[in-house]
Amino acid sequence: MTRQDDMLRTAKEVQLGNYAPAPVVLTHGRGRRVTDASGREYLDLSGGISVLSVGHSHPTLAAAIGEQAARLMHVSNLFYNDRAIELAEAICARTPFDKVYFCNSGSEANEALLKLARRYHYDRGDEKRVQFVSTYNSFHGRTMGSLSLTGQTKYHKGMAPLLEGVRFIDFNDLAALDTAVTDETAAVIFEPVQAEGGIIVATPEFIQGARRICDERGALLFLDEIQTGYARTGRFLAQEWFDVVPDACSFAKGIGGGFPLGAMAVTERLAGGLPPSSHASTFGGNPLACAAGLAVLYIIEEEGLIENANRLGEYLANRLHEINERLPSTAGTRGLGLLQGLVLADDVDPAATLDAIFSAGLLLTLAGGNVIRISPSLNVTQEELDEGLAVLEPILVNAPRKT
Ligand SMILES: Cc1ncc(COP(=O)(O)O)c(C=O)c1O
Repeated sequence: MTRQDDMLRTAKEVQLGNYAPAPVVLTHGRGRRVTDASGREYLDLSGGISVLSVGHSHPTLAAAIGEQAARLMHVSNLFYNDRAIELAEAICARTPFDKVYFCNSGSEANEALLKLARRYHYDRGDEKRVQFVSTYNSFHGRTMGSLSLTGQTKYHKGMAPLLEGVRFIDFNDLAALDTAVTDETAAVIFEPVQAEGGIIVATPEFIQGARRICDERGALLFLDEIQTGYARTGRFLAQEWFDVVPDACSFAKGIGGGFPLGAMAVTERLAGGLPPSSHASTFGGNPLACAAGLAVLYIIEEEGLIENANRLGEYLANRLHEINERLPSTAGTRGLGLLQGLVLADDVDPAATLDAIFSAGLLLTLAGGNVIRISPSLNVTQEELDEGLAVLEPILVNAPRKT
């Protein structure tokens, strides 16, 4: 038995079975390459599901984390810390937002949005505004609140009762949104690009119409930019493509480059939205996570990664489009920047296709059940994309069919 087999056996014994990982143990990573315990190397164009914004173990990020760990890791939120102040200031400088709350994950950032909305209306004497409007096919997280916002019933199985008062509409259906928002709606929330749902981009009509409807009815508009935020779509925030400013926004995934970091950013309107003691998170905004967040921002700027995501996102979209034109095993492409999807034809077996891609040494993920998602780190090169597509295309030529 090899060392890797041994570790896999132990993993099955001691780790809870809520995931179904590929049968390898990854031990090292650099840039877009990861290595397993047997020494095999993989090209990672999944970016750890849109998390590794600056690649595996970027030296600047690793050094920033190391230096901060040696200086100050945690102080509790009973004290300010320099890194959190600097990161909040940097986020406000790059976005339309005026204040930032830090937490540790995407779900936690969305929980904060839920609480912010209810408390904001409550403090204004509008106590009946407790409902939320979300979209089918969305993904907002796995904690009970964020799960309740998630419009995919497969994630709800066995978890009832969920949070009351969440109404779902079809994504991009403005007429449905118009009907759903009432004087009991606290907030409307959706992703600018439904990522886990299959890389479905919001229409400008929907996102701009949502802003108008919320303003007319006194509801708040929230955008979940957890997967799209920080340059992934070729803009610092995806909302910039639509020229819409929500009242608040959630971030996580790429903002820590692999270090757990989440955030909620709000406009001036909501600046007093969560008064002292209304919400908190022990690790939220600790100096170590914020040092990672600052290093990610520095690298994004230093290496021109918004421009890279924009340019290579367009290149990737074009290449996927060509592949889609050539192959009967695919049924379309969609995406924004470096969040791209290649839709598999109905008769193709998505799980078996992903297995074949993995066996060929390429890391990609599925979204929406039948979409091959390509969401590499933002400093991916054209050569790496070409290398990945050269692995992907022959597999799709002979794509495993459903039985
Ligand atoms: C759009 C979106 N929102 C929320 C989440 C949940 O984030 P986390 O897994 O960090 O709780 C995710 C994770 O995939 C996501 O893509």
